[in-house]
Amino acid sequence: MFLNLLCIGGARPNFMKLAPLVHALGADPDFSVLIVHTGQHYDDQMSGMFFRDLEIPRPDFHLGVGSGSHATQTAEIMKRVEPVMLETCPDAIIVVGDVNSTLAAALVAAKLGIPVVHIESGLRSFDRSMPEEINRIVTDALSSLHFVTEPSAFRNLLAEGVPAESIRYVGNLMIDSLYRKLSSAREAGTRQRLGISAAPFALLTLHRPSNVDDPCKLRDILYVLAEISQTLPVYFPVHPRTREAIKRDGLLPGADIHFLEPLGYLDFLCLMSQSALVLTDSGGIQEETTALGVPCLTLRDTTERPITIEQGSNTLAGTTRESILNAWKHHQKGPKVGRIPPLWDGRAAERCREVLKSIDLRGLVHCPSDLVKLVSDRGTPVS
Ligand code: UD1
Repeated sequence: MFLNLLCIGGARPNFMKLAPLVHALGADPDFSVLIVHTGQHYDDQMSGMFFRDLEIPRPDFHLGVGSGSHATQTAEIMKRVEPVMLETCPDAIIVVGDVNSTLAAALVAAKLGIPVVHIESGLRSFDRSMPEEINRIVTDALSSLHFVTEPSAFRNLLAEGVPAESIRYVGNLMIDSLYRKLSSAREAGTRQRLGISAAPFALLTLHRPSNVDDPCKLRDILYVLAEISQTLPVYFPVHPRTREAIKRDGLLPGADIHFLEPLGYLDFLCLMSQSALVLTDSGGIQEETTALGVPCLTLRDTTERPITIEQGSNTLAGTTRESILNAWKHHQKGPKVGRIPPLWDGRAAERCREVLKSIDLRGLVHCPSDLVKLVSDRGTPVS
């Protein structure tokens, strides 16, 4: 059966998950794929560079929403994506991850009776102070088909009453991108270009609101990382949210922490693959380091990706001086060695495509309504 799909993304961590899927579906005559970029992230360093590095086709629709409070941003995406769905009448929409764009698009589609396919479904930190956790729970409740990356996600969805037949363990699309781009990343000459002569070195990312929005918390974290940097130099591509916080609060920890501009996909992958240790509060980087076998200390108290701890090279280091130093000391005694989780093999996009071919998406819609009728009731032309 031929399927018209709308793939929707908007923030940096969406793009490496969308890329392999768009490529796999785009090469198959059974699919027509349109790309919507919400514009949640808009700087070239947060968006354009990723489209180029990952060779994602130019979006068919760019909504240009920009930044705002959660309510403003989510509402603006909803307002701007609804006419696109009405105009294109897709058989389903595909949303990825847990950002505001994911939630907003899922809400609009579900109310139009369009099936929602959620990539990276079912992950749970069980910490509702994370905006992403709310986005995950609501998106999953509205989705008709759930593609999961690890067994915990399968269990979480079942516990929330999601029917087993709508859940498919396909592997990890982000790791598809990683395998596809690793050799070009290694040849990108990133260290020479950025003047990183230190070896070994650590790579740091920090952007979670709970870590960077509170000046005391951010200062504590940066100062303990400065201590670590005296043994292992730390390179830190700074997210715009964090850059603002550092500027606002005049935080310059000194020592051997080297601030960098945000990096594109290939440059970041190059540094990650060559680093002795990654320190991060990101979700996706916990998975990428596990795939690369690089030890990762996650500067959080919880993770929605427990497989990276159970099987991978990730350790939860917490966010206090004491907990981070403990984890660091432990790492110094012997870096954690992990293994690559099942189905993180670079073929997740193919599996997604085969599931999409085999499944009756309309039969899975939780709350069907008639999009065509809704469109004609409003007098919007159906193309
Ligand atoms: C968002 C996601 C988060 C994800 C992160 C990756 C939500 C709720 N959060 O957080 O899950 O891990 O992206 O980066 O969706 N800004 C720029 N340029 C840009 C984009 C943002 O300067 O291109 C600045 C703006 O000042 C903005 C701030 O960064 O206010 C935060 O951006 P926003 O998209 O609201 O959240 P992130 O922290 O990026």
